[in-house]
Amino acid sequence: MKAMRYHSYGDSDVLVYEDADQPAAGAGQVVLRVAGTSFNPLDAAIRTGLMQEVFAVAFPHVPNYDVAGVITEVGEGVTGWSTGDAVVAFLPPAEPGAAAEYVAAPAELLASAPRAVELADAAALPSTGLTAMQALFEHAELKTGQSILVNGAGGAVGGYAVQLAHQAGATVTATASARSIDRLRSYGADHIVDHAATPLPQAVAGQRFDVVLNLVRTTPEETAQLVDLVADGGTLLSATGPVPDDARVRAAWVFVRSDAAQLAELVTRVDAGELKIDVAERRPLTDLPAVHEEAASGRLAGKTVLTP
Ligand SMILES: NC(=O)c1ccc[n+]([C@@H]2O[C@H](COP(=O)([O-])OP(=O)(O)OC[C@H]3O[C@@H](n4cnc5c(N)ncnc54)[C@H](OP(=O)(O)O)[C@@H]3O)[C@@H](O)[C@H]2O)c1
Repeated sequence: MKAMRYHSYGDSDVLVYEDADQPAAGAGQVVLRVAGTSFNPLDAAIRTGLMQEVFAVAFPHVPNYDVAGVITEVGEGVTGWSTGDAVVAFLPPAEPGAAAEYVAAPAELLASAPRAVELADAAALPSTGLTAMQALFEHAELKTGQSILVNGAGGAVGGYAVQLAHQAGATVTATASARSIDRLRSYGADHIVDHAATPLPQAVAGQRFDVVLNLVRTTPEETAQLVDLVADGGTLLSATGPVPDDARVRAAWVFVRSDAAQLAELVTRVDAGELKIDVAERRPLTDLPAVHEEAASGRLAGKTVLTP
């Protein structure tokens, strides 16, 4: 099969499109024919080697942990899944990934793919949807009537966070630049701060939120400013780095985990028309080095799905 792989850590030019052995389904695994895989900022961070204490890969490594595809082989001990089933998964980030024609996936991580969207587009859901869901409802325990600030709502995680928070009955303030404002309004954001026009602390001066969810790579000074935006006893969560200790608020750096049951719940919401999957670009897998390059220079158009 063809796969996009890298043989050493480095810049985006370590990614090469080449022949690779087609995976076989081990015990507890299935093999998927990849319909689509989406790019995530962590894919690029793993490629640089900066994350190797947490995500050490074996070379050559096939990147991309978000996948949508069709089962072509079912391994020993797998029940409930058959060849031909269309599924989505958030795969273990350091294992051989979905930037390939086929990928082996642990069956316990699979959820049936949504039927309401193209199968390839469903690859834009798993890890980012789960990040939003776990941050809001496991870590922040967001409730009806509470207020939430989603900093970085224009990104993939932020889009899901705004939709889920709105549907949970929270009042949502979202930071976004011009390109995302209309979309976030349609997702139910009550207030939008154009972060390109007005710095956040200035735009929300005097306000405090029950929950602040940070999805922007903030400096330590910027993260400290976010603490001031949290109501007494409220929660500051960051998906991008450490948060300061402050006795006044609950603060945590959160990490997503793969969870098939939660992913199935997200899929149900997509099929019910409650949760929109935003795909900014659909590109061939051979574009992956360019996608990494564009992400590094801030030129990536938004959530990008790649098809082998
Ligand atoms: N810890 C975890 O488990 C975990 C899981 C998933 C993601 N993450 C991290 O969370 C971050 C967001 O992930 P993602 O997948 O949503 O990324 P993404 O889709 O690449 O989001 C990038 C978006 O952030 C917005 N943005 C950039 N600078 C901003 C600023 N200064 N203020 C407000 N918004 C800004 C931009 O949207 P607009 O141009 O529309 O404003 C941009 O499109 C990434 O750093 C990712 O690595 C962590």
